[in-house]
Amino acid sequence: MNYKFPDNFYWGAATSAYQIEGGINNNDWAQAGREGKVPLAGLACDSYNHFPEDFDAAKLFGHNAYRFSIEWSRIEPEEGKFNQKEIEHYRKVISELRKRNIEPWVGLSHWTIPLWVSNKGGWKSEKIIDYFSRYTEKIVSSLKDDVKFWITINEPELCAYFSYLAGLWPPQEKNFFSFIKVIHNFIKVHREAYKIIKKIQPQAQVGIATNNTYYEAYKNRPISVLLKTIIERLDHFYILNRIQNYQDFIGLNYYFHCRIKGFKFNQNENKKISDIEWEIYPEGIYYVLKNLEKYKKPIYITENGLADAKDEKREWFIKETLKNVHRAIQEGIDVRGYFYWSLLDNFEWDKGFWPRFGLVEVDYKTLKRKIRPSAFKYGEICKNNAL
Ligand code: FCB
Repeated sequence: MNYKFPDNFYWGAATSAYQIEGGINNNDWAQAGREGKVPLAGLACDSYNHFPEDFDAAKLFGHNAYRFSIEWSRIEPEEGKFNQKEIEHYRKVISELRKRNIEPWVGLSHWTIPLWVSNKGGWKSEKIIDYFSRYTEKIVSSLKDDVKFWITINEPELCAYFSYLAGLWPPQEKNFFSFIKVIHNFIKVHREAYKIIKKIQPQAQVGIATNNTYYEAYKNRPISVLLKTIIERLDHFYILNRIQNYQDFIGLNYYFHCRIKGFKFNQNENKKISDIEWEIYPEGIYYVLKNLEKYKKPIYITENGLADAKDEKREWFIKETLKNVHRAIQEGIDVRGYFYWSLLDNFEWDKGFWPRFGLVEVDYKTLKRKIRPSAFKYGEICKNNAL
């Protein structure tokens, strides 16, 4: 075992509410799905009911942490009306994790918003700052005794881009000014949520998860280096710089590599790709981690994974990624956890159910779960804290 990880390292997998729970009808994605604008999640993995079984699998794999999100539209189905029964549901979820000695990492928002919020302008309207604050206060004051780690928002920059500029995700706008407005609203929402959480629970650890691409300047040519520097500043550091006094850790989701060759982007020779044609480039995580060093905060890899229905590349991919994480740690980067995306196959946003990211395969007809071999291989790493 050459690659030993720091003591108390968190090992686990990540999910999100709309992608796995099923039965969520009252948010912007469900509405867009009913209108035929995006696929519908419907019953998804029915994890709303199957979660103890899914946590048994995580336990079997030796995971000591699990990242999931709370669905705001369940908690506050109508403006200002909180559903206590649903808060109790998440309390139960958390207690089932704790029973298995799995640390809950709780997300307040993984892109979806209640229909009433989207009808009032969604992330584009400044009203969302107050709405999100009230929701945060309710959740955190209800669950504070059982949760230490909170993630306010998942990948705000992707949500802003795909929902308000690329026109792909609800509300499918293509407007540069909306995009800029949404980015700034996300920053404000996060800062307020951070302050609220720390006031209710000073010892809580609070962060955000961003999706950082590894931008590589081909052969370090000056023009490529210049473009890389500009893009990195806009894509990674713009949000992180503005929230640096409002986060206790950095949550890193790593999936993408973009090689910049002159003015050409994404020039990847010898491309290896996953089932959804995303380039597989595990070594990029090392550079992305190094880039985050300047913030001097603990880093948790809150997502990393690939769609691989045949489970041919997953074990190799996880191991290669972790070797690169280890290399960064050896060089002094304070990485404290790794969450594979995802524990289960699930609903992949505008693509629907065909991409298979799970350590556990889900048969969507019978809802039967079947463990993929790579889950056990990753499990050995989790149990040994080494590979
Ligand atoms: C990330 C999302 C996550 C999942 C993976 C594949 O960007 O945060 O919900 O869709 O991609």
